[in-house]
Amino acid sequence: MDQATQLRNIIKSTTVQPRSVARVITVTSGKGGVGKSSISVNLAIQLRKLGKRVVIMDADFGLANIEVMLGIRPQYNLADLIFKGRNLRDIITSGPEGIGFISGGSGIQELTNLTKDQLIKLSQSLYELDQYVDVIIIDTGAGIADSVLEFVAASNEVLLVVTPEPTSITDAYALLKTLNKKTDFLAENTLIKMIANRVGSPTEGKEIFDKLNVVVNKFLNIKVEFLGTIPQDNTISRAVIQQNPVTLGYPNAPSSKAITELAMMLNNNTVIDQQSKKGISTLFSNLIRAKRSK
Ligand SMILES: Nc1ncnc2c1ncn2[C@@H]1O[C@H](COP(=O)(O)OP(=O)(O)OP(=O)(O)O)[C@@H](O)[C@H]1O
Ligand SMILES: [Mg+2]
Repeated sequence: MDQATQLRNIIKSTTVQPRSVARVITVTSGKGGVGKSSISVNLAIQLRKLGKRVVIMDADFGLANIEVMLGIRPQYNLADLIFKGRNLRDIITSGPEGIGFISGGSGIQELTNLTKDQLIKLSQSLYELDQYVDVIIIDTGAGIADSVLEFVAASNEVLLVVTPEPTSITDAYALLKTLNKKTDFLAENTLIKMIANRVGSPTEGKEIFDKLNVVVNKFLNIKVEFLGTIPQDNTISRAVIQQNPVTLGYPNAPSSKAITELAMMLNNNTVIDQQSKKGISTLFSNLIRAKRSK
C-alpha cells in the first residue's frame, strides 16, 4: 500500500461522523393568548405528516397548555427525569399522529440548582433526544419574563407570534428590545421568523410585519424575517374546546390550510437552518450557562 493510500485510510477511519441533532423551533410572543400553543401543536402534527419525527416540549410553567390542547395527561415530566430517575422514554408521551410530547414541569425552573450528577443525567438524555427526533418544537410562555427570554436567547430558530392587536405588536417589539440587551444573546445565532396570527387578510399580516420591521431595523441589532399569516378563524377556538387540533379535526378550515402551508415552508427551508442547527442539548447547555452566570 503506498503512503497516499495509507493516509487516506487513516483519515477515513478517524473521521468522526457528525452527530445528528434535532432542529429546535422555539415558539414565543410578547403578549399572551396570541396562539402560540395552537400553532405549536398544529405545526408539530403537520411536520410529522411531512415525515419528520417531532416532539413538542411545553416550557410554559404556568398553564399546562399543550396537555389541555391535546387532551392528554403525561405521567411524568422533565423534573421526574432530573430528580426521580425517570428515563427519556418515560417522559415522552404519545400524541396524535405519532408526535411526542414532553412536559417541562418544574424541570426548567430548577436548572440553576442542579447537582453535577443531575446535570450529567439531563445532558445525556437530551443528547439521546437529539439523535431520536428530527424536530423539537418548544412552546414557551409569553412576555419579557427572564425565563422566556433565556429560552429565546439560547435558541437558533424562533417563531414570534403576533396578532393585529396594537398591544401584541408593541409587546413583540418590547420582547425583541429586551432580547437585544441581553449579554448572552447573539443576533447572528438566532433566526427570528414572525407569524401574523388572527389576521383579516394576508396583506394585513404583511403590514404588521412591515410595521414591526421598521422599528426593529431602526433601533435594534436584530434581524426578523416574515414567515407568513394565519387568518382569524373561529374553527381554531372550536378545536381547542374539543381538544382536537384544528388541522386534524377541520383540515379544510382556512386556519388549517394556513398552518399546513407554514409547516411546508419550514420544512423546505432546512438548507439555511441546517447550518445554524445546534440541537436541544446545546440549547440547554446555553440556557444553563446563562442562568448560572447571573
Ligand atoms: N387564528 C385564530 N383564529 C381564532 N382564534 C384563535 C386563532 N388562534 C388562536 N385563537 C384562539 O386564541 C386563544 C388562545 O390561543 P392559544 O392558547 O394557542 O394562545 P397562547 O399564545 O398559547 O396563549 P398563552 O400565552 O396563554 O399560552 C384560543 O382560545 C384559540 O382558540
Ligand atoms: Mg400557550
